[in-house]
Amino acid sequence: MDDLNTLREDLMTAVGAAADSAALEETRITALGKKGRITALMKGLGGMDPDQRKQMGQALNALKGEVADAIEARKAEIENAEIDAGLEDDRVDVTLPVRPETEGRIHPISQTIDEIVAILGEMGFAVAEGPDIEDDWHNFTALNIPPDHPARQEHDTFYLPGEKDGERMVLRTHTSPVQIRTMQSGEPPFRIIVPGRTYRCDYDATHSPMFHQVEGLVVDKTTHMGHLKGCLIEFCRAFFDLDDLPVRFRASYFPFTEPSAEVDIGCTRDDGQFRIGHGDDWLEILGCGMVNPKVLENCGIDPEVYQGFAFGMGVERLAMLKYGIPDLRTFYESDLRWLKHYGFAALDVPSMVGGLGR
Ligand code: DAH
Repeated sequence: MDDLNTLREDLMTAVGAAADSAALEETRITALGKKGRITALMKGLGGMDPDQRKQMGQALNALKGEVADAIEARKAEIENAEIDAGLEDDRVDVTLPVRPETEGRIHPISQTIDEIVAILGEMGFAVAEGPDIEDDWHNFTALNIPPDHPARQEHDTFYLPGEKDGERMVLRTHTSPVQIRTMQSGEPPFRIIVPGRTYRCDYDATHSPMFHQVEGLVVDKTTHMGHLKGCLIEFCRAFFDLDDLPVRFRASYFPFTEPSAEVDIGCTRDDGQFRIGHGDDWLEILGCGMVNPKVLENCGIDPEVYQGFAFGMGVERLAMLKYGIPDLRTFYESDLRWLKHYGFAALDVPSMVGGLGR
């Protein structure tokens, strides 16, 4: 029995000392494996006399159970320790500074176009597009600006060398030729807006050789000047986010509209301070009119049945007014400091900018 006590102590010490699963498994084999020490003693029971065998058998069974329990308990300890060590190794240091992210900005021209499209889109206009390189007919003649018309001089046109199909090609001086392309290629009614690049040979604080316009065209059987006025008053108020912005229609002249008007909005200019809204002064912001019957005819539309209105606005001018940008040339200098200052976060998804129908 003393031998058994020594064996118990030996095995228990070994179990307690096993540092990992592999060492514990070795200890288990040494004690309880096929050739283990307890197993060997059990095999010896057969040669004993019955009394001794009974006594020794019970003692060995008890020892076997004890050692097996101890091994299980140690196994659980080792596994927990291994999990803890793994967690310790994988620990994320939440105090580490984050890597700097470079976030782009939306250019004010893109933002302004998106705002204009959002407002007019909500009114039911669809976006149409046309080519930047136009022929003389679409850019001028079809819009009732014949070759000798004085309006041609005002456009400071960039002409491309040579001719195509007997036509001089130009960089379009306005988005109005897309009115022609739309009316030629579809059936009325039309309700389109045309955001796009336009080109004129001009360069100063308020002009750039490449600039942007948004054109509008509505043609239907009953379209009248009241629709034109309602649409543009609502647009100006939504765009500048001023419910009571004064809007005035002043008689003007464009070859492709009759009658024609320019739209002014109210403003104040006190001691060099400029503000949009109620005031004693007016600021011109866009051109418009009822589509000239000659333009409808040029597109194969019967002016006795259909009539429409059109408008055109300069995106740079609207962006400068809304966001207080003093020099138009800075739009195209690609200065990142400027873009950081005047640009928009990508998440500023153009909303209704104040909303319609308030
Ligand atoms: N195309 C004109 C321009 O570039 C702007 C314009 C005025 C367009 C009146 C229109 C309009 O459609 O009706 O100066």
